[in-house]
Amino acid sequence: MRILLTGKNGQLGRCFQDVLKDTNHELFAYDSAELNIADASAVAAVFQEVKPDILVNAAAYTAVDKAETDSENAYLVNATGTELLARQAANLAIPFIHVSTDYVFDGAAVEPYLPSDETNPQGVYGASKLAGEINIAAACEKYIILRTAWVFSEYGNNFVKTMVRLAKERDALSVVADQYGCPTYAGDLAQAILEICEQHEQNKPLVWGLYHYCGDIPTSWHGFARAIFAKSYELGVISSCPQLTAISSDQYPTPAKRPEYSVMSTESLKNIYIAPSKWVIALNLVISKLSLGK
Ligand SMILES: NC(=O)c1ccc[n+]([C@@H]2O[C@H](COP(=O)([O-])OP(=O)(O)OC[C@H]3O[C@@H](n4cnc5c(N)ncnc54)[C@H](OP(=O)(O)O)[C@@H]3O)[C@@H](O)[C@H]2O)c1
Repeated sequence: MRILLTGKNGQLGRCFQDVLKDTNHELFAYDSAELNIADASAVAAVFQEVKPDILVNAAAYTAVDKAETDSENAYLVNATGTELLARQAANLAIPFIHVSTDYVFDGAAVEPYLPSDETNPQGVYGASKLAGEINIAAACEKYIILRTAWVFSEYGNNFVKTMVRLAKERDALSVVADQYGCPTYAGDLAQAILEICEQHEQNKPLVWGLYHYCGDIPTSWHGFARAIFAKSYELGVISSCPQLTAISSDQYPTPAKRPEYSVMSTESLKNIYIAPSKWVIALNLVISKLSLGK
């Protein structure tokens, strides 16, 4: 199967390349310099040249706080770029596998969000990702959008790597304890996307639409940090656990407002035979890789 991957250098892009290594699929992977998804003629040229059987979009504007003052670029990538990809996928009648975010919600819920729940993004990033979802649904029929959350991996910048670095530098840390969500390993997400691609290749009927893909156990940033420190200490990555203080979001103001509660229900994933990310197991793997300097 000919798979077109955009955003190959991001966390998901790199993990997707890793999971493809043991397969026979032909991967055509592009970074932002090789293919700017917001450039209509570049997108059209790549589709014409590659003629993919399926499209996986790992490209996105992901700087949540910067987006508040850079809304034009956030929309250019997350809304316009996504629409350009969706139109090309529709032209070739190929499936479009896309990734969105829990930040489309306002966080006022008290139980896990369903894909059908009302959206109400609190910041530009979430709003631009929501616009991308809407554009895809308008432009093509064969799409799967996986809303994910709190993504971590051995690659790029993420909460796990930041906490490990800070634990090496400081004796004490304060972490927000009143925001709840589901950590997600980018490698699990990549594997899930590969499984979706292979179901399509095997002509299994896929139920197109919107799904929630995230970790199986909700926690707070504070709880996540505690798990990271405990595992890092156990694996000898840090020599002691820093003293961890729980603080409120008010005590850690950021330019973009985050949802207080963005736990998502992954129930409907069973309709496409996918299991949620087992993030505690994955955390072990990622910290082991960090300990080896990978
Ligand atoms: N990270 C999270 O916690 C999180 C949470 C919820 C949802 N998500 C979603 O999950 C997906 C994967 O996220 P991630 O963590 O892998 O993101 P990431 O590490 O920030 O990677 C995003 C990639 O997109 C590329 N990109 C940006 N603008 C582009 C453009 N105009 N054309 C082509 N490529 C472009 C970036 O390349 P450059 O570096 O060259 O700009 C980068 O390699 C995204 O859709 C994101 O919105 C992420």
